[in-house]
Amino acid sequence: MTEFEDFKNFEKEGWEERAYTYDKWASANAKQIIPKAVNALALSKEDIVLELASGPGYGTNEIAKISHNVIGTDFADAMVLEAKKQNPGLKFEQGDAENLKYSDNIFTKILCTFGILHFAHPDKAIKEVGRVLKQNGLFVFTVWAPVQESPFFGMLAETIGELGSYDVGLPTAPPIDDFSDPDRASERLSAQGLVMTNFEAINNIFNIGVPANSIPQMYREVAVRSKGLLDSQDPKNLPAIESKLIERFKEFEINGSVSMPFPYRLVTAKKI
Ligand SMILES: C[S@@+](CC[C@H](N)C(=O)[O-])C[C@H]1O[C@@H](n2cnc3c(N)ncnc32)[C@H](O)[C@@H]1O
Repeated sequence: MTEFEDFKNFEKEGWEERAYTYDKWASANAKQIIPKAVNALALSKEDIVLELASGPGYGTNEIAKISHNVIGTDFADAMVLEAKKQNPGLKFEQGDAENLKYSDNIFTKILCTFGILHFAHPDKAIKEVGRVLKQNGLFVFTVWAPVQESPFFGMLAETIGELGSYDVGLPTAPPIDDFSDPDRASERLSAQGLVMTNFEAINNIFNIGVPANSIPQMYREVAVRSKGLLDSQDPKNLPAIESKLIERFKEFEINGSVSMPFPYRLVTAKKI
């Protein structure tokens, strides 16, 4: 078994049961962010485009407004079904970003929004991007800012650190902060033959639309690792952890709805 294989299985199982609830919590935020990511692809109607880790298909939907030659692909069958349901007429296929079934040099543009931090072997996925992209093709991806900059992820990390434990038997994930750092992102891309041409740190504000006391439910329904982390805590600590989270999110509640920064990075690379 290769390194991080347990993590990959854990993510796959988690996303298979989360297609509907991910969409419920994430679609409004994604729809704020994705037009900007698609804009970075500088599309024309002649482009042949692949979306990796397409989830419910937000990126593919936005791309199809310009280029009809687009395929969305995700390793979770449930996500592919959700994407097809939401986007009748658009093409979605099950596929692992780390082992693409497409021939070499066929896409002119590739998009991956908030997928890379879920890959067990991100370098393999970037290598595959380099393989299937045509020369001068563009790869655009987004990743969340590190937890230290991000209240949504940071408050969970701090609260678990203070009142719970990280040592709860979850599979080890690969290190994730390289892709939110311009120098390290550039190194990881160039190691696979891609040249980083743009790196933007963007501070998106998202009004989640629910009060602070819905946040523990959101953590469980929107992301695989946050559910795993909460549900693996010692049950005697869980009420205190959840109360603390609610208390901290109340600082961001305006008129009964939590609104907070969700900072992210938008990165563009080229195959030379
Ligand atoms: C946070 S969601 C992002 C979905 C969508 N791109 C968006 O912006 O909302 C992460 C997605 O990555 C997919 N995923 C994780 N690992 C993958 C892999 N190795 N290959 C393809 N998809 C993968 C999951 O199934 C899930 O749909």
